Parts: sequence; C-alpha cells; structure tokens
Amino acid sequence: MEPPPTIIATSSFLKLPYRHWSGSLYLLAIKKLIPLYLHEQEREGLRAAGRFNAELMDFLRVHIKAGVNTLQLDKLANQYTLDHGHKPACLGYLGYPKTICTSINEVVCHGIPNTRPLKDGDIINVDITTIVNGWYGDQSETFLIGPVSNSAKRLVQATFDALFVGIHAARRGGTVTEIGRAIQSFATKAGFSVVREYQGHGIGRDFHQEPGVPHYPVLTSNRDLIKAGTCFTIEPMLNIGSWKTRVDTKDKWTVRTIDGALSAQFEHTILMTETGPEILTLTQNGPQEGHKF
Ligand code: MF3
Ligand code: CO
Ligand code: CO
Repeated sequence: MEPPPTIIATSSFLKLPYRHWSGSLYLLAIKKLIPLYLHEQEREGLRAAGRFNAELMDFLRVHIKAGVNTLQLDKLANQYTLDHGHKPACLGYLGYPKTICTSINEVVCHGIPNTRPLKDGDIINVDITTIVNGWYGDQSETFLIGPVSNSAKRLVQATFDALFVGIHAARRGGTVTEIGRAIQSFATKAGFSVVREYQGHGIGRDFHQEPGVPHYPVLTSNRDLIKAGTCFTIEPMLNIGSWKTRVDTKDKWTVRTIDGALSAQFEHTILMTETGPEILTLTQNGPQEGHKF
C-alpha cells in the first residue's frame, strides 16, 4: 500500500485540542510559548491517575467476552470508578453520554456502549479515561472475542506493535513528528493504513491539551519538542482498508471506516522523564510489549 504523503495539517475536531479551545491565534501562540513540562509533584499526580486507570482496565478485561454487551461494561466501569472515589472523564465530555468508548469492528473510535452482545469473531476497542485528584489517565486496548479471522488478528497485532514502535520513537529532546513517522512507516510495511483524522494528545490536568500527537508525519509537529516532564498519549488507529473515516450522522460520535473495513486501536499515557519514556497506564496484568495475540 502506498504511504500517504506528508501533509501539513489534519482536520479532526476532537483530538486537535487547540482548535476547539479557542478560535484565537493569540491564545494559540501563548500556549505554544508555555509548554507544560511537569515537575516531580505533578508527575506523581499523573502516575497515580495512570495507575488507577490501568487498574480499571484490569478489572474490565476479564468481563470482555462473547455474550456481554457494552452497556454492561460501561456500568461496571462507571461503578468501579465511583467506588474508588474518582471521576469518569468521558461522561459529559462535550456531551458524550457514557463512561467508556466501545468501538467494535469497523468502528474506529468513540463507539457508544449499547445493548448489542459481543460475539465470536468481533474485535472491540475499549477506551477508558478517568480523573484522579484532578489528573487524567487515558488508555485503550483492542480485544479479540473468541476466534477471529486471520486478517483481524494480524491487524490487532500490528496496531499493538505500532503503539510500542511509537513509544520507542519518543525521545527526550526529540520532536513529536518522529512518533508519527515511525508508526506510519511500521504500519505501511505491515500492509495497514493509519487513521489521520484523530490523534494522540498532551494530557495532564486537561483531557486533551498540547501537543497533538498525529500517528503519521505532520510537519507542524516538528516544533513540538518532547522534554522531560512532557506527558501525552500515543493511540494509533490502524485500518485494513482506507484510512478515511466518517462520523455517524445520527449520534454524532461513532467514527467508522469509510469503507466498512476493520479498524483497531491501542493507547497508553506516556510521561517523558530524564531517563526516557515511562508508560503510566500499564500494570503487570496488561499486555506487555512483545505480547502475541
Ligand atoms: N479517550 C479518547 C481519547 O483517547 C477520547 C474519548 S472522548 C469521548 O482521547 F468523549 F468520546 F469520550
Ligand atoms: Co487519548
Ligand atoms: Co482514550
């Protein structure tokens, strides 16, 4: 498959935060001049949020199987979060109606939990974000339900591996562009396309903040430096067919591939430290780097 050319900008509304924060170029300039490099106490806040979010994923993981519906998963996630004294971040965010996002098969992201039971052969991404003492943790995983097609399995494997390729491409003192370049190059070699209209993001006391983290090379990301204390997500979405997507006209949330072909995604929250990238949203129970599906 031909890699798409490097372009200057993307067109997403949700994950290009500075566009919907303010229409003001002045504010954009200020935000560019004041990057968020977090000191140790702030990093501890983010670590605690990432850890709790990862524990929530551990709790949910065992429930994600054939016969269960996504509304049940949503209720479990909501209850677990509240029981631990924390806040679901997605619920009410820009009017989003549920606690988690559940994106099945051709759904790329932002699928809304519903009563359709999971069935053998499905692949489902579960994306969870929580707020712990004001700090955000954000992660997602794609799950195989029962036996799935070989192509689905290869897609999920490549997407998982692409996340770790992206994590390794994040260098202290490097730029955000290097992450997208590495992910796109890896995905293209594996025969998959990379979604361009949704991207990773800075994260901290806000859900979506600078820098935007495209999963393909975007020239404007050259000026986004990754320093110790930068915290951001990497969350590649890979498709079997076209990289293009379409938002559901009725619910205004569900994002599907334009051609109906399968899509997968994995996400972690990453803190750049003096000694390299630290994955904040991983426990020993989650799939580790090198995991084979
Ligand atoms: N968790 C998603 C992300 O990775 C955002 C979901 S926003 C929602 O950035 F409103 F759809 F929940
Ligand atoms: Co995210
Ligand atoms: Co997420």
